[in-house]
Amino acid sequence: MERIIVLGGKGGVGKSSISAATAVRLSTLLPEKRILIISFDMAHNLSDLFDTEIGNELTQLTQNLWGIEPDANAFAEEYTKELIDKLKTLMKQMPIVGFIPQIEEYIDTTFTADSIPLALKNAMFFQKILDAEDLTQQIQFDIVVADFPPTGNMVALFEIPEDQVKIVLKYSLNFYNSIKGAMRNVGKMFRKFVAPFSDEKKRRELGVEIVNMVQDLEERGERISQLIHDIGSLRLVTIAEKPSFEEIKRARDLTSKYIDLDAVHINMLTPKKYADNCDFCHKLRATQLRYNEEIRNEFGKLRIWKSKKLVDKEPIGLDGLIYLANEVYGKVASAKEILYPKSY
Ligand SMILES: Nc1ncnc2c1ncn2[C@@H]1O[C@H](COP(=O)(O)OP(=O)(O)O)[C@@H](O)[C@H]1O
Ligand SMILES: [Mg+2]
Repeated sequence: MERIIVLGGKGGVGKSSISAATAVRLSTLLPEKRILIISFDMAHNLSDLFDTEIGNELTQLTQNLWGIEPDANAFAEEYTKELIDKLKTLMKQMPIVGFIPQIEEYIDTTFTADSIPLALKNAMFFQKILDAEDLTQQIQFDIVVADFPPTGNMVALFEIPEDQVKIVLKYSLNFYNSIKGAMRNVGKMFRKFVAPFSDEKKRRELGVEIVNMVQDLEERGERISQLIHDIGSLRLVTIAEKPSFEEIKRARDLTSKYIDLDAVHINMLTPKKYADNCDFCHKLRATQLRYNEEIRNEFGKLRIWKSKKLVDKEPIGLDGLIYLANEVYGKVASAKEILYPKSY
């Protein structure tokens, strides 16, 4: 993998559209590279933008571009199954479980992938996609374009690889405590008479396996954080208005320790030709120009890409996305410029 392009910003400013347009443009500029566009917004809309059903399977969109709208729930179930099975077995080693059959049922129904927070599930998927050492991947991608959710959830996606182990441990511990709690409630009578575990050796072996799995997760988390540091490139999308401008300042501050911010997109500017003969458009444009200045003052060191509000053609379908890419990057932008905007 060479580059991970992440698009962030407030809802509705054009993150998904610009992600899709960027992926399409790169796929035509770099026909020999394998490119993936992936959505991390719970409300996936890549299918709408490409006008093709994408969903949870890698879907080929052009000769060298694939898309996916991952179902984080299905993935988390698969990914955590082994760990959960081991933890369940460990819990069931408690002899109290044999005395009170309800506890076994409680263990089976409480500790499921359902109870993993969505942000963690998404982060697990993000890691899987990025994990170059994960040999189970069907296709190795050269460039990944990630359409991220608005800022709060975006930060969670970066944060979790670093905190993976703490979270898994906390999660396991919560479960362990809930079982102990259940034992206290239903098992008061028995607790006096039985040791907590029947087969000490088996319990210890399982414990070691769980610790090993957690260590693997830790290594994976470190690997991924490093990868994002090394080849990640964040671009923030805003419109020329106060709320989304404020949002990208926050996003910059909250993500600076995880990923390089390389560029800002100012999207949906009112075209001058409309501003000249419509009072409303004129006023709107005047405000936009003011914010345009403010954004330049704040982010002037970065590459700033401006794009107008399209009115003649919707940015939908391959055609529409190529059209939007022309608006965003101009017709002559090179792949290098799009991949490494800071060097230009
Ligand atoms: N430059 C543009 N001109 C016209 N419409 C645009 C432009 N950029 C985005 N849109 C439209 O704005 C809406 C929101 O865009 P979207 O990419 O879904 O935003 P986000 O992912 O930030 O929520 C969509 O209907 C999209 O087609
Ligand atoms: Mg979106």
